[in-house]
Amino acid sequence: MDLTNKTVLLTGAGGGIGQALALALAKKGAKLCLVGRNEQAMQLLRQHLPHPERHAIAVMQTYSDDEIGALASSFNMNGKLDILINNAGCSHFALFEQHSFEDIREQIRTNIEIPALLTRALLSEINPGGIVLNIGSIFGEIGHPAWSVYSATKAAIHRFSEALGRELQGSGISVLYAAPRATETSLNNEDVYALNRKLGNGMDSPGFVAARIIRLLETEQKRYRFGAMERLFVKLNAWFPAVVDGALGKKLPVIRAFARRTNGGESE
Ligand SMILES: NC(=O)c1ccc[n+]([C@@H]2O[C@H](COP(=O)([O-])OP(=O)(O)OC[C@H]3O[C@@H](n4cnc5c(N)ncnc54)[C@H](OP(=O)(O)O)[C@@H]3O)[C@@H](O)[C@H]2O)c1
Repeated sequence: MDLTNKTVLLTGAGGGIGQALALALAKKGAKLCLVGRNEQAMQLLRQHLPHPERHAIAVMQTYSDDEIGALASSFNMNGKLDILINNAGCSHFALFEQHSFEDIREQIRTNIEIPALLTRALLSEINPGGIVLNIGSIFGEIGHPAWSVYSATKAAIHRFSEALGRELQGSGISVLYAAPRATETSLNNEDVYALNRKLGNGMDSPGFVAARIIRLLETEQKRYRFGAMERLFVKLNAWFPAVVDGALGKKLPVIRAFARRTNGGESE
């Protein structure tokens, strides 16, 4: 797809990947509808985008049914959408026993329920030739200790993307899916950064992730996973899960120690 003059709705626009993606899309000439809960962050972002007057902001307090309905109606009245990017997401780095009910619910709601509701409400407002892009995670491909609920929600958004894409074949709308590996944003706290350094896990910058996502949109490649090692691990996990059980099992004492440190338990 040529992104020039395309109307793009981006959720989680005020976050790390969201901001980088907004900038990259605006540079390509797209018209953005920045969606999120933090109006101030989105106003600031809009001011720094090329041609701020071309971009709109939609504040969502809680992504309630009413707010989602109003957002869909605004496209119904003011012109259609070309691309919906479900980027908003949250993660709790914690052992399962450390998760509160609220932590579990928040991840399920933010990472799968809200994207599915937004897609349901906005699908009929997407122009022929349009795209739904869901942002997953490499942890949706490889269940990872201390990210059990996050991994589950990202696996769900992957399967949702795959199933909906297959259902919409021939409709003119494509469903794409991107699975970043660890990225330098505030989704990850200092302990996650330290854990990744200790385990030798690579991390990408938001700008790099945004550039890859732009390429995904332009080429309409169905799915993209970040990192050569990570892609290899995904294949190993699919064919020989016991090998990945063993590899992650060896890292488990370190992962547990960092998760306890983050969540106020014993230190490393
Ligand atoms: N950073 C990573 O390591 C990494 C790796 C793989 C995949 N991802 C995925 O990439 C996407 C963007 O994440 P990021 O790294 O840019 O993280 P981020 O900087 O924390 O931004 C996430 C955005 O999601 C929104 N959000 C968070 N909790 C929410 C909630 N409870 N309800 C509604 N919206 C909520 C926030 O929007 P508001 O502005 O509304 O607060 C925030 O701007 C997420 O889907 C994440 O899972 C990230």
